[in-house]
Amino acid sequence: MSMLPASRYLSQAFQSDHACLEQIANNLKEALCNRDIIGAREIANELDRKAGAHIAFEEIDFYPVLTSYLPEQQIEKLYLDHIAGLAAIELILNSNPPNEIDQRQIKTLTAHVNAFEMHVAECGKLFSSMGALSSIRLQDLWERLVYWRSKAPRWTEIGERQLTPEL
Ligand SMILES: [Fe+2]
Repeated sequence: MSMLPASRYLSQAFQSDHACLEQIANNLKEALCNRDIIGAREIANELDRKAGAHIAFEEIDFYPVLTSYLPEQQIEKLYLDHIAGLAAIELILNSNPPNEIDQRQIKTLTAHVNAFEMHVAECGKLFSSMGALSSIRLQDLWERLVYWRSKAPRWTEIGERQLTPEL
């Protein structure tokens, strides 16, 4: 059976979003590794801008749908990975002056960004397990992603109230 248009668009958008986020996370890790805090700040800002729509889509629209297909713990982990990523970019963006980030913090940040990067790679594969979704659901998800893209929130604007799963 051929794929329906919405699922094709969604699949492509989902993959390109993840490729983009993975690249930025990688750049951020490299900047932290080089202790280039000014550079890390620019990259964190880029991540904040570019990840917002995708993160909102996942947390508000996509992950809730996944709860019917994946174990609760796995879903919880997806949210927690986002929290770690957000904590990292907030720390980098809020440090003022930026050189106040000390070695210990760089280590923590690197661990968080690393976890986020791994998350992005794993999350990008989730779409392939979406074969079970109905075409109506896929159409709906596609429209939600388009909506978030048009709204283009910053990641730091989405708010942790949406991020925090009930623990
Ligand atoms: Fe994702």
